[in-house]
Amino acid sequence: MSNPSREQWGSRSGFLFAAIGSAIGLGNIWRFPAVAYENGGGAFLLPYLIALLTAGIPLLVLEYSIGHKFRKSPPAAFRGLAKPAQAIGWWQVAICFVIAAYYAVIIAWALRYIGFSLGEQWGDDADAFFFGDFLQAAEAPGTVSSYVGGVLWPLIAVWVVVLAILALGIRNGVEKANKLFIPLLVVFFVVLVGRALTLDGAWTGLDALFTPDWSVLGNGGVWVAAYGQIFFSLSIGFGIMITYASYLRQRSDLTGSALVAGFANSSFELLAGIGVFATLGFMATAQGVAVNEVTAAGIGLAFVAFPTVISEMPLGGLFGVLFFASLVVAGLTSLISIVQVVVSAVRDRTGIGRLPAVLGVGGAIALVSVLVFPTDGGVYLLDTADHFINQYGIVLAGLVVVVVVGWVLRRLPSLQRHANETSAVPLGRWWLVCLGAVTPLVLGWMMVDSLRAEFAQNYEDYPTGFLLWAGWGVAGAALLVGVLVSLVPWRGGPGPASAGSDTGAVTREEGKN
Ligand code: ALA
Repeated sequence: MSNPSREQWGSRSGFLFAAIGSAIGLGNIWRFPAVAYENGGGAFLLPYLIALLTAGIPLLVLEYSIGHKFRKSPPAAFRGLAKPAQAIGWWQVAICFVIAAYYAVIIAWALRYIGFSLGEQWGDDADAFFFGDFLQAAEAPGTVSSYVGGVLWPLIAVWVVVLAILALGIRNGVEKANKLFIPLLVVFFVVLVGRALTLDGAWTGLDALFTPDWSVLGNGGVWVAAYGQIFFSLSIGFGIMITYASYLRQRSDLTGSALVAGFANSSFELLAGIGVFATLGFMATAQGVAVNEVTAAGIGLAFVAFPTVISEMPLGGLFGVLFFASLVVAGLTSLISIVQVVVSAVRDRTGIGRLPAVLGVGGAIALVSVLVFPTDGGVYLLDTADHFINQYGIVLAGLVVVVVVGWVLRRLPSLQRHANETSAVPLGRWWLVCLGAVTPLVLGWMMVDSLRAEFAQNYEDYPTGFLLWAGWGVAGAALLVGVLVSLVPWRGGPGPASAGSDTGAVTREEGKN
C-alpha cells in the first residue's frame, strides 16, 4: 500500500529528469575530466566502467528500492529496515548539509564568471585573478579575517533560486525545474562540445585523454578514484536517491530507471571529458606546450584553465558564457536534490509543512554557506571539507549501507523482490553478488588505502591543525550528528515507516502540495 498523501512526481519522465539532474553536476564537468586524466586517461575508463556496473548501478537500484518501499526520506526509510539503522539516514542528512553549504559556493563562482566572460575580465593572468582579485584568498589556510562581497551576492542569488524551487514542491518545483534545466544543459553542452571539437589542436587534447596508460591498472589509487567518481557523480551514498524515489508512484520501474539514469550520467560525463580536453588541446597547441602542462585539477580546471583558453579563442567570451552557464545549470539541479534530502528528512521527522521546512532547514544551510565561505579563508575550507566529506562521508556511508543492509540486516533478497515486483528488468543474482561481496570488499579496501594516503601526507600539504578541524572535524561531526539525532526518541512527530511495509505514518502536512 502506498502512502496516499506523500507528494509524487507527475510522471516517470519527471522522476528521471530529476534523477539525471541530480547526477549531472559539477562532478561531471570539472571533476571527471581531471580525475580521468590524472588516473591513466583512456585506461581509467575501464575501472570507471567496472565501478559503474559493479557499484554504481547496483547501489542506485538499492537506494531506489529503499526509497520506494518505505516512501520516506533516508532516516525514516532506514528506520523502516531496523530502528538503529536510522542513524545512517541522519548521517547522510548531515553529509548533505555540509555538501550543500559549499556546493552552492562553486555555483556562485560560476555565476559570477558568466559576467566575467563577457569582458574576459581576468586579463592576462587567470590564476591571479581567480585566487587574488576574485576570491581574495588568504596566503594560508585557517584564517578568516575578511568578507568577499564579489562571492556573497551571487551566492545569495543561488540560494534564493534553490529555496524558491524547493518551496514550490516536488511536482511544481523540482520536477518542472529539471524538465527545463536538463534540456537546456544538453543544448548548451552540444554547442560547447561541437565548438571545442572544431578548434585547432582539439585532437591533441583527445589523444591526451584517451591514450591509455595501462600500467595504472595495477595501482590501487586509480580504482579508488574510479569508485569515488562514480559515487559523487551518480549522487549515491548521500541519501538523495532514497529521497527522490520516495516520491515515486507504487508501480514504478526501478531497475529500468536506474539503468537510464546511470548511463545518461556517464554519457554526459564522457561528453564533458571530450569537450574539456578538446579545449585544453587547443590551448596547448596555441602555447606550444604539452597538454599536461595546461591541465589543472578541480577548481583550477574550471576557473583558471578555462578562462585562459577563452582569452585565446575567437569569440571566446561567448564560449565562456556557455561553459559557465552549463556549470550553473548542472550545479543547480544537483544542489536542489541535496537540499531536498535535509528538507524531507526534517518534514518526515517533525510533520512540519513544506514552506516552514524549506525556509527553516534550507535557510539554515544557506546561512552557514553565506557566513563561512565568502571569506578570505573560504576557498581552503571548501577544498578541505569537499575532500574529507567525500571520502569519509559519502563513500564511507556507502560502505556502511551495503554492510548493514546486506550483511547485518540481510535485507538484500527482500529488496530485490520488491524491485522485481514493479520493474521491467528483473534483478538477478549478479545484483546480490555485487552488493553483497564486490562493493563492500572494494569500498573497504578503498577506505584503508585512502586512510593510508591521508596519514602518509597531509592533504594538499595543509597544516595538521587545520585539517583536524576543517577536514576530520567536519566529516566526524556529520557522523556524530547522525548518531546523536537518531538517539532522540520519535515522539510527537509523524513517526517512521514501519519495517517491511511501505505504509508509514502519514503526515497531514505532506498532503499540502
Ligand atoms: N552528482 C552531483 C555531481 O556530480 C553531486 O556534481
